[in-house]
This record gives sequence, structure tokens and C-alpha cells, in this order.
Amino acid sequence: MILIFLGPPGSGKGTQAKLLSSEKNWPQLSTGDMLRANISQGTNLGLEAKKFMDQGALVPDEVVIGMIDKRIQEADCKPGFILDGFPRTVPQAEALYALLKKHGCKLDHVILFQIQSNELVKRLSGRRTCTKCGEMYHIESRPTKVEGVCDKCGGSVIQRPDDDQAVIGKRLDVYEKQTAPLVDYYSKLGLLREMNAMDEVKNVTRSIASIVT
Ligand code: AP5
Repeated sequence: MILIFLGPPGSGKGTQAKLLSSEKNWPQLSTGDMLRANISQGTNLGLEAKKFMDQGALVPDEVVIGMIDKRIQEADCKPGFILDGFPRTVPQAEALYALLKKHGCKLDHVILFQIQSNELVKRLSGRRTCTKCGEMYHIESRPTKVEGVCDKCGGSVIQRPDDDQAVIGKRLDVYEKQTAPLVDYYSKLGLLREMNAMDEVKNVTRSIASIVT
């Protein structure tokens, strides 16, 4: 099963990808997480990507395509995988098509997370993330028991630099201009499955389950 989770920043792609991944054992391939891992390891790729990410801009296509090409060839991707935050441009979607063809597989569904923009701003500005295990929190809907400390691993819980109010607006603009055209792209291919991402986490999980089973 090969899935794409498509939707604006803050629509809940990462939250749902983690849940589905642990239920089905399909790895979550998040280009955002891969880039952040490179940043924390201080790699050249990470240093280069950080300049774009801190401003809310997209990292160049060839960088993320290269990362995905390498990752999908790993053994754990054999039963299937969930693409979270990739592709984000039409050239990335075209490259993905070619990569999957090269490896003899094909996309099953593109799940579109539909959500209103005022809810996105609320979710992103209140999001907090554990620097150690990646667990996600929200200051209103899912606060940590102890402020700044991860309930799961005790790591420190921080606000992502790109969840700053000034950068959120830029990320939403970038989504509209560069990523939203993929809705039409995948709709024409008959792969798009629309889903209400405004609902509670458990109801969104249920909607996704009804698509992928
Ligand atoms: P990335 O890390 O992919 O970020 P994003 O797409 O902007 O998505 P987010 O992680 O912000 O949101 P999400 O939809 O996963 O929502 P989440 O589940 O966290 O990318 C970061 C940057 O990396 C990009 O800006 C770009 O620079 C670069 N990049 C990455 N991929 C790239 C690519 N392919 N090409 C080029 N550049 C790339 O939820 C958000 C909050 O809401 C959380 O607090 C959560 O607890 C809460 N929440 C979730 N679901 C619900 C719900 N149903 N109800 C209430 N609250 C909820």
C-alpha cells in the first residue's frame, strides 16, 4: 500500500501518519522530519535546507527527490509506506511517478486533508514538538503534563522555528501556490480521496481507515 497524505501545514498529516504507521507497520516517510534530522546532525544538506525552512519556503526539488529515492529502497518499505509532506510540487509528483515505476510499484491513494485556514493557524501556533522522540503536543488540545517536558520520553518539548506566527503565513501561501495544484493533478489521475480534517483526531483516523481498508 503506497499512500500520499496531502494537505496544508498543520492539517494533521503527521499525527495521522504516525497512528497509521504504528497500526499497519508501513513506515511514515516525512520529508520534513528527514530534513530536520539533517539539521540536528549538522550535515551539509541540513545546513542548506535550514535556510529555506526557517523562511517557510520549500527546499529545492532535487534535494527531497533524492532523499525519497534512497528511502523507498530500504527493506522496511517493501510492504508499503506513507508519504507525509511529499510530493509538494508538480515536478516532485512527476519524479515520484518515475521512481515508483522504476521500482515496479504504484500509488494506491492520495488522501487530501481538507481544513479551514483559521484552524490551521490555531493548530500550528499552539503546536509543540519533542526534540528527542518527535511526539507532538498542542498547548490547548494536548498539553504536556509538565510544561516543556515530553510525557513519553522526558525530552525537551519546544516550538518549531517555522511555527512562528510570521513564518506560518508564508508557509500557507507557499502551499496555495506550489502544492495545491497537486489536488487537480491527482484528481485527474483518479487517485484523490477527500477527507474532513477538521474533525477530532479519532474521527479523522476512522475516515482514513475506511479509505485504506
Ligand atoms: P513539514 O515538516 O512537512 O511540515 P508541514 O507540511 O508544513 O506540515 P506540518 O508538520 O506543519 O503539519 P501536519 O499536517 O503534519 O500537522 P500535525 O499532525 O503536525 O515541512 C516543514 C518544511 O520542510 C517545509 O516548510 C519545507 O521547507 C520543508 N519540506 C518538507 N517537505 C518538503 C518537500 N517535499 N519539498 C520541499 N520542501 C519540503 O498537526 C499540527 C498540530 O495540530 C499538532 O499540534 C497536532 O497535535 C494538532 N492536531 C492534529 N490533528 C488534529 C485534529 N484532528 N484536531 C485538533 N488538533 C489536531
